Amino acid sequence: MFKSLFRKKSTAVVTSDEEDIHGHGLHKVLSVRDLTFFGIAAIIGAGIFSSIGSACYAGGPAVILLFIICAVACGFTAMCYAEFASRVPMSGSAYTYAYVSFGEIFAWIIGWALLMEYSIGNIYVAFSWSGYFTNLLEAVHIHLPAWLTSNYSESHQAFLSNATGEEYNAWMNAPQLGGLRIIFDLPAVAINVIITWLVLVGVKESRNASNFMVIVKLAIIALVIIVGVFYVDIDNWTPFMPNGFAPNEVNGETVGVMAAIAAVFFAFIGFDAVSTLAEECKNPQRDLPRGMIFSLVISTVIFIVLALVLTGMTSYKNLNVSDPLADIFGARGVKWMLYIVSISAVVAMTSVILVFQMGQPRIWMTMSRDGLLPKKFAEIHPKYKTPGFSTIMTGVVVGVPIFFTDRTFILDFTSIGTLFAFALVCGGVLVLPPRKEKTNDGKFRLPYINAQYIVPVMVLIAAIIVFAVNPALITDTFSINADNAVKNIPMLVFFLSCVFLSIMSFIKKYSLIPVLGLLSCIYLFTGFSIANWKYFAIWLVIGLVVYFLYGYRKSKLNTAQ
Ligand code: ALA
Repeated sequence: MFKSLFRKKSTAVVTSDEEDIHGHGLHKVLSVRDLTFFGIAAIIGAGIFSSIGSACYAGGPAVILLFIICAVACGFTAMCYAEFASRVPMSGSAYTYAYVSFGEIFAWIIGWALLMEYSIGNIYVAFSWSGYFTNLLEAVHIHLPAWLTSNYSESHQAFLSNATGEEYNAWMNAPQLGGLRIIFDLPAVAINVIITWLVLVGVKESRNASNFMVIVKLAIIALVIIVGVFYVDIDNWTPFMPNGFAPNEVNGETVGVMAAIAAVFFAFIGFDAVSTLAEECKNPQRDLPRGMIFSLVISTVIFIVLALVLTGMTSYKNLNVSDPLADIFGARGVKWMLYIVSISAVVAMTSVILVFQMGQPRIWMTMSRDGLLPKKFAEIHPKYKTPGFSTIMTGVVVGVPIFFTDRTFILDFTSIGTLFAFALVCGGVLVLPPRKEKTNDGKFRLPYINAQYIVPVMVLIAAIIVFAVNPALITDTFSINADNAVKNIPMLVFFLSCVFLSIMSFIKKYSLIPVLGLLSCIYLFTGFSIANWKYFAIWLVIGLVVYFLYGYRKSKLNTAQ
C-alpha cells in the first residue's frame, strides 16, 4: 500500500491521455502574447487594488521590500513551473507536475491545495470587487443598504466589538428571518454567478473578454501612475519602516513589514494559472514558460511603482481602507480619477475571477480523468463544449462561503495554500531526472547552476551575520503579539531547512534555482500564523480522508495495475 501512494504518472502516459481525450477537442491557438495577457489578467487584481492598502498601513513605505522579496520567491518558482511546463506540457498545472515527480498522494495534496488558490482566492477577489463596484454605484446615486454589501461574519464581529461603520450598520439594520439576520454581499454573489455563466457558455467568449479587460486595466494603471506621480511628496517616504520589519503589536494591531505577507503574496498569485492552458497553446514547451515569466516581470514592475506612488501620495497611516487607490485620489480632490480607478479595479478584478474560475474546472477535469475525482468532473457540456459540471461546482464552491466567511481569513488561507503548492513545485524540480537531450529546439530549459558549494556558503554567511547581529532571531517567532495569540512559524524552521538543503545540495549537486525557490517559499511560510497553518493542516487532513475513501481506490493507475 505504502508504495502505491507514490505511484507516478509517466510523462508519456500524461501525453497520450491528453491526446486521446483532447486530440480533437481544444484548439491550439494561444501565442506567447495571449499567455502573457492571460497571466496579467490573473495577477493584477484585488491584491494591488485592495489589500495593498492594509499592507502599506502595516509596513509603511518599506512594504516595497516585501514586494521585492515576494517577487524573488515567485520568480524562482515561476522558473520551476516553466521547467515543468516545458517537460510536461499538459493541463492540470502543479497537480500534474506533482504526479510525475512525487507520485499520486502528493499530486492529490497539491490538487487539494490548489482549491485554495483558485476557488477560495476568488472569494476574496469577489469581496474586493464588490467594494469598488459599490463605489461606482454610489457615484451614480444608487445606494445599496449596508446589509446587502457587507458579509455576515465581519458584521457580527463589528457588532461584538462595538465598532462603528458599514459592518456595524449592516448588523443593526438587517432584516431578520426567524431570528437570523439577513446580511450578505449581494454584488459579490452576483459577480460569481455572472462569471460562472460566462465560463460555462464558452472559452472563446471568456478569452476575448479577458484580453479586452487586460488592455483596459494596463491603460488605466499607467494613467494612475502618471497622474499619481504629480501628487507624490517624498516626505511621505520617511520614516521608511515605521513599524519595523517583523510583525509586532502597536495599539492592539499587528503591524510590521512581514505582517503584510498574506496581502502582498496574494497580489502575485496567478502567474501559475497560465500553466492550466497547456493544451490550448501553439507551442506549449516554448510559450508557456515565456508567458508565465513575462507576465510576472511586468506585474512586479507595476506593483513596485504603484506601491511607491501610493505611499508617496499620502502617509501610510491613511491607507488602511479597502479601496486605497480610489480613496487617495478622492482625498486629494481628484474626483475624476476616483471614478476611473474604480472602473479599472472592477475590470481588473473581473478578469482575475474569470481566469481562476476557468482554471479550477480544468484542474478538476484532469484529476477526474486520472480517476481521483468522479467522472462527472470531466464531463463536457454537450452544447457549450466546456467542463459543465466542474464549472458549476466551482461557482458553488466560491459562492456559498461568500455568505459566511470573512476577508482576512480567506486572504491568509489562500496565500498559505498557494505558497504550499509553490514550495512543492520547487521541490519537484529537484527530484526530476536530469535532461538527456541537448538539442536547441527553443524549448525552455531551467539553467543548471550547481548548488553544491554556493548554497552551503550562502547559508554559512547568513548564519554568521545573524549570530553577529542578533542570535535570538534564530529562535524568534516573527509575531510577538501581547497575549501571544498570534504566533508565527518559528524562524528556526527556516534555518533548519537551510541547513538540510545545504547538506542535500552538497551531496546531490542540486540545481541552484529550485533550491533558492524552495528556501524563499519556506522563508515566507514563517510570516503566517501558526493558527492559520493549523486550519490549513485540518484542510489537508480532510483532503487525505477524501483521497483514501475515493481516489486511492479509483485511481486509473490502481485499476491499470
Ligand atoms: N493576484 C490576484 C489578485 O490580486 C489573485 O487578485
